[in-house]
Amino acid sequence: VIGVLEIPVVFNVLYSTAAENVSLAQLQSQIDVLNADFQGKNSDYNSSNPYNNVRGALNVKFYLDQVIRKATTRTVWYSEDEFMKDATTGIAATSPTTKLNYWVVSNLRSKSNNSQLLGYGKFPGTTTAALDGIVCGNYCTGTTGLAAAPYNLGRTATHEVGHWMNLRHIWGDANCGSDLVTDTPSHDSPNYGLPAAGLRSTCSGTPLEMYINYMDYTDDKGMYMFSSGQASRMAAIFSSSGSRASFR
Ligand code: ARG
Ligand code: ZN
Ligand code: CA
Repeated sequence: VIGVLEIPVVFNVLYSTAAENVSLAQLQSQIDVLNADFQGKNSDYNSSNPYNNVRGALNVKFYLDQVIRKATTRTVWYSEDEFMKDATTGIAATSPTTKLNYWVVSNLRSKSNNSQLLGYGKFPGTTTAALDGIVCGNYCTGTTGLAAAPYNLGRTATHEVGHWMNLRHIWGDANCGSDLVTDTPSHDSPNYGLPAAGLRSTCSGTPLEMYINYMDYTDDKGMYMFSSGQASRMAAIFSSSGSRASFR
């Protein structure tokens, strides 16, 4: 990519009450967070931590392309639910090979165990274009309106767009698993809430855990960096032979 990579975002808002029909201001606040977090311009970027030297950023600019809204009688949505992306029940994706589709729903649950989910994102190349994009709850989208603590800083979408740009969870979805990035330490498992400084994993070398990374599961205010290895991994998919070259 020569210069900045521009990513148009299409918001697909599904609502069953007027209150759930999130405001344009809430959606715009999410765009602002994505730009800050991916460009390393977030206000907490310079917070002191042991990993300041491996922080990474991406030369990318997100912008609000359009908002598609749809009233529905459906009140629960499930992960991997294709109805969410079907024009009859939900909203079909708009130009998914050149635009990032972001579905906003009220009540998102795991298909396997019915637990509440903040969101999910598709890895490049793992789904048909019509099912590509990310999904986030309206309570964890943006920084205003329905956004509610501790997920009110827009970091759920930062995390989901990280997946959409090929990042794995920092613990590699296994005890001391690999996230395929060398400058992030091995973690035992996901961290929640706001871990105490100095936390070490029991994995080889007992490294300090990077629980401030967007690809962990901590509270929004506890995650504020991608590593430089993660930034390279994301940039690679936008190369001319990369899995998201169509966004160039
Ligand atoms: N559970 C979600 C996922 O695995 C995202 C968690 C995001 N965390 C946050 N603090 N917003 O994709
Ligand atoms: Zn995740
Ligand atoms: Ca790693």
